[in-house]
Amino acid sequence: MTRLEGKVALITGAARGQGAAFARRLAADGARVLVTDVNDEGGAETVERICAQRPGAAVYQRLDVSSEEDWAAAIERVAAEFGTLNVLVNNAGLLHFAPLAEHTLADYERLLRVNQIGTFLGMRAAVAPMTEAGGGSIINLSSVEGLGGMPAVTAYTATKFAIRGMTKVAALELGEKGIRVNSVHPGMIDTAMIRQFTGEDTDLSPIGKKVALGRVAGRRRSPVSSRSWPATTARTARVPSSSPTEVRPPLMR
Ligand SMILES: NC(=O)c1ccc[n+]([C@@H]2O[C@H](COP(=O)([O-])OP(=O)(O)OC[C@H]3O[C@@H](n4cnc5c(N)ncnc54)[C@H](O)[C@@H]3O)[C@@H](O)[C@H]2O)c1
Repeated sequence: MTRLEGKVALITGAARGQGAAFARRLAADGARVLVTDVNDEGGAETVERICAQRPGAAVYQRLDVSSEEDWAAAIERVAAEFGTLNVLVNNAGLLHFAPLAEHTLADYERLLRVNQIGTFLGMRAAVAPMTEAGGGSIINLSSVEGLGGMPAVTAYTATKFAIRGMTKVAALELGEKGIRVNSVHPGMIDTAMIRQFTGEDTDLSPIGKKVALGRVAGRRRSPVSSRSWPATTARTARVPSSSPTEVRPPLMR
């Protein structure tokens, strides 16, 4: 018997990156998984990959984490197809770099809605089904930026601190129902979230040298460029959203 046999998990932002990796891991450990995202194509690919190993172990549902209606529909789908909810991974998130003086309200609110409100709505939606199931586990993706600051990430850091705070409140409230609530605080992980700012060919190993593992976790790749983060790229990469600002060096601890 596998560790999570008979368990049901809902994962947000599971079209790619860490969310997709969580979905594959949980399915490999025996859980049935509702893969959700706003990226339908990526979500379908995650499901296809899981079902190639374990047919029927995953299905996809579009879920914009900032939408109450989408949460209600996703919870209904879990009840209808899987009968129970045991694990929720609030993983969906957005990152944005901008110096404080140039950080637009629109970008602040964009991150607030997905990172912070999305996590709040997800936890709230899980209370009833997990209580009914006799307990469960909620895992909220914060960040090392939920523990300390870094230049040029005001909104991201604010939302990740908020996730840490609301996790503590929920853990204290829901423990008596058998629902565990934890936040996780990863350092840099090599996913598309980071690569949209650094470019695909930038060597991230200088950051890796500063952490215990000695490497940046995530996609394993050999550096194909002499550009490294943060030495060159962080000073030259363009912020790809509403802000015309150049990224200033995030000083990863
Ligand atoms: N990559 C890192 O270095 C790092 C470090 C610490 C914490 N994190 C956190 O881990 C989580 C996953 O990060 P990742 O690196 O895999 O990012 P990623 O950008 O690769 O994946 C994020 C996913 O969230 C989805 N998403 C965006 N807006 C959404 C919305 N409104 N509703 C539902 N889904 C939405 C995207 O489509 C995408 O599939 C995020 O919360 C991130 O803040 C990442």
